[in-house]
Amino acid sequence: MSYLKEKILKDGIVLNNDVLKVDSFLNHQIDPTVMKESSNEFIEYFKDKEITKVMTIEASGIAPAIRVASQLDVPMLFAKKTEPSTLSNEDQYETNVHSFTKNKTSRVLVSKKYLAPDDKVLIIDDFLANGEAALGLIDLVEQAEAEVAGVGICVEKSFQPGRAKLEEKGIDIFSICRIASLENNAVTFVEEATANEEY
Ligand code: G4P
Repeated sequence: MSYLKEKILKDGIVLNNDVLKVDSFLNHQIDPTVMKESSNEFIEYFKDKEITKVMTIEASGIAPAIRVASQLDVPMLFAKKTEPSTLSNEDQYETNVHSFTKNKTSRVLVSKKYLAPDDKVLIIDDFLANGEAALGLIDLVEQAEAEVAGVGICVEKSFQPGRAKLEEKGIDIFSICRIASLENNAVTFVEEATANEEY
């Protein structure tokens, strides 16, 4: 079992049927072993993709993304949710990302300087839920005519539509943890749910 899964079972808190609180190790306080082990798993999966850049969106994607980028020895680029005063409209790619969880739409942007058509971009994020964040990042990469090498996710909530939306676009997705359900105040991973069905 991956270290992240163990940590979810030990320290994750199911807030309701949709939301898992992981702020003691993933998106507020960051556990270094979770970062190290998760990064190793991403690299093992995507190692043959000749990645030139790792990309994420602020804030919680930054920690896993920087670890992967430094292991691959490539730059990490994060999309910003607030407009830097040093960047003008014509210098940036921008898109809208709607968060269903937070019921808020953010305009996100990156400088055109940091994405080029010859880039092979690995997108990393902490959660895949509705897929809006990942689709927004893919849109930015496509505007630059660069290639999306894949999407690496720490925690996928497989009962929400994010994975299906990315698969529809032919994206290669690797998630360290796939959660089938948060019902009855418990985390059920996809493998267990499938095993129970088979049984
Ligand atoms: P998406 O990320 O797949 O687009 O789905 P959604 O719109 O539902 O999620 C938006 C935000 O909510 C994301 O953070 C995501 O990380 C977070 N989120 C989604 N599901 C969960 C969950 O079960 N638990 C926790 N703790 N967070 C969840 P964000 O808006 O990018 O903000 P930030 O936290 O990275 O700053």
